[in-house]
Amino acid sequence: EKGNYRHYMQKEIFEQPIVVAQTLQTYVRPFEGEVALPVVDADLQAVNRLTIVACGTSFYAGLVAKYWVEQFARVPVDIDVASEFRYREPVLEPGGLALFISQSGETADTLAALRHARSQQQRIAVVVNVPTSSMAREADLLFPTHAGPEIGVASTKAFTCQLAVLAALAANLARAKGRLTREEEQEIVGHLQEAPAALNAALNHDEDIAAMAHLIAPARDVLYLGRGPDFPMAMEGALKLKEISYIHAEGYAAGEMKHGPIALIDDNVPVIVIAPSGPLFEKTVSNMQEVRARGGKIVLISDAKGIEEAGEGCMATIEMPAVHPLIAPLVYAVPVQLLAYHVAVLKGTDVDQPRNLAKSVTVE
Ligand code: M6R
Repeated sequence: EKGNYRHYMQKEIFEQPIVVAQTLQTYVRPFEGEVALPVVDADLQAVNRLTIVACGTSFYAGLVAKYWVEQFARVPVDIDVASEFRYREPVLEPGGLALFISQSGETADTLAALRHARSQQQRIAVVVNVPTSSMAREADLLFPTHAGPEIGVASTKAFTCQLAVLAALAANLARAKGRLTREEEQEIVGHLQEAPAALNAALNHDEDIAAMAHLIAPARDVLYLGRGPDFPMAMEGALKLKEISYIHAEGYAAGEMKHGPIALIDDNVPVIVIAPSGPLFEKTVSNMQEVRARGGKIVLISDAKGIEEAGEGCMATIEMPAVHPLIAPLVYAVPVQLLAYHVAVLKGTDVDQPRNLAKSVTVE
């Protein structure tokens, strides 16, 4: 079933252009230039606050969604990991909308959080990959991802499909709230439609990434930096590396470096900077220079323009296609997944079944 691939994870990384396209098909109408979720605008109009709950990689998809929902729809978003949400006595106004994100639809903490939200009279929306799962059954509003079965314990294609659905949801909410002109909606749909081709272009750098994995494999610690929606991508990159290569890694908001973590920097701690061209590029690059001034070894992931501007002096660069900032999180998922994958292969770990981990965490 793995075909020509060595691992399920590798196969699933390479499936992303197709499954993201499949997922988008059900959420956008490209010819009309409209997003089209299985929910009526009138239902979303009353949403004044959105609560998002998830675990692990699905939580990072939720963090990206917070940036989008607040930017487009101007609806405030509360977000928690499920194990915190359950027990912290969150303040939930009756009739509020709570969104749960899960590949499996069975994660024990997320499911318990969903039931808690229900008991607090919340409307339950679910973004889920397994259509027969408990969460899918218990949802009021069901937003399926169409990633197909994900076998590798490290989530890859389910994540990018979650992002595709969440971008469409943010746009739909924005429209319902009267925050989106026709033209803006058409533009968003246009950018989303570019995602599959951009994912393909990102995958074309597989060999370059494989060739530089030896720079990361010997490290004991690795830092990932990003800003805005690329901050959760830094955390996602770090999680992927931790779980399959067993290298300690942390994702930080680039601007937080000087508030502590920069003390860790020496030439044994590679720093992976996720910095697509766009409004936040210069800021992230200036944080990167602070790291470099302290002898840090940098891997810059950016587009040709970004690499030309800031690539000099980096230990390595990974070039991504130039994309609109909206779809950058989807596209930049690919290099962080591939980097973790190739480092794990070099280290000889069990990529699809990493130690101590289960695909679906059905215990608290
Ligand atoms: O099935 P879920 O999306 O609810 O799972 C949540 C996490 O357990 C999951 O994302 C986990 O962090 C992955 N191993 C990450 O690669």
